[in-house]
Amino acid sequence: MAQNDDEKPLYKYSKHKIGAAINIKTLRNDSVYATFVARQFNALTAENCMKMKQIHPNRDTFYWDDTDYLVKYCIKNNLRLHGHALYWHESVPDWVKNIKDSATLEQQLKKHIQTVVTRYKGKVASWDVVNEFIAPVSDSVRQTSIITLLGADFVQRAFIYARAADPDVKLFYNDFLLEAFDGKNAALIRWLDDAKTKNIPIDGVGFQMHIGLDWPDSAGITRRLQEVVKRGYLIHFSELDIENNNETRSVYTDSFAIALSSRYRTIAKIYMTVPEKQRYGITFWNVYDKETWLKRYFKRKYEWPLLFDENYKRKKAFYGFVSGLK
Ligand code: XIL
Repeated sequence: MAQNDDEKPLYKYSKHKIGAAINIKTLRNDSVYATFVARQFNALTAENCMKMKQIHPNRDTFYWDDTDYLVKYCIKNNLRLHGHALYWHESVPDWVKNIKDSATLEQQLKKHIQTVVTRYKGKVASWDVVNEFIAPVSDSVRQTSIITLLGADFVQRAFIYARAADPDVKLFYNDFLLEAFDGKNAALIRWLDDAKTKNIPIDGVGFQMHIGLDWPDSAGITRRLQEVVKRGYLIHFSELDIENNNETRSVYTDSFAIALSSRYRTIAKIYMTVPEKQRYGITFWNVYDKETWLKRYFKRKYEWPLLFDENYKRKKAFYGFVSGLK
């Protein structure tokens, strides 16, 4: 297995943290993966195991085992752990969806947030408190049965609940396509500005950055990012990967490898326009091409979205990315 052990680890090319989302099953069962992760990155996010469906499957049952393992792994290997995510509409367990009374629902979600944050106080550096609350492409709030019952203000209260459980942990709002659509970006800005007037404790914004080779255009990304930067928030590129648009290619050609590398360079350069003290870090959505969610989740065959190939070998994209960090 090519491990590039003689080469400088990825994170050492960067002043800010470089993270990866990890598949907890793979981390627990595959020692090559586990060794590679600790060597190349200095921050981690749980791809799934800290989400509500996984960690709180029944009203009175928490499943801590995977996250406890991850926490220990991070401490042992000196990796910063980012918590993902306390509230995400896609990971609401049925027992919560079945609550029809708003007071009970609010109380249960509050209890969830505070139990999880309290357990990992001092161990998790930051939380995505709310994930993907703004509707995909429009400029409105995503309507779900929970928001209908609790009101859109629930999202702000979620931050207050998290802050009450841990005064020091960094609290993030995380979403996709904030960098891609003016309407969605504007909705975010309105929401942030409103939260500010109410003293809602929000430290940072996670731009997921599930992007394509050519979209969104880089000038647009920079402009939309800047709207958040100028308001002083920490900026996390929290789930970076670059997809093979509609599986246009079925072969990983040299020209694609070069285009991917150049795109990664551009993205790193855009990130470096963020003032140093606001750079929370860049996190890739998994470690190497073999584990990418783009294949699993969308059932696609041809995706090579990350810096390391299916054999953990550095791709041209690796070198493009690190050159953009300079
Ligand atoms: C995805 C995981 O990668 C998949 O394994 C899982 O089946 C669904 O969730 N935005 C997010 C992440 O905030 O939590 C999602 O992760 C990808 C999109």
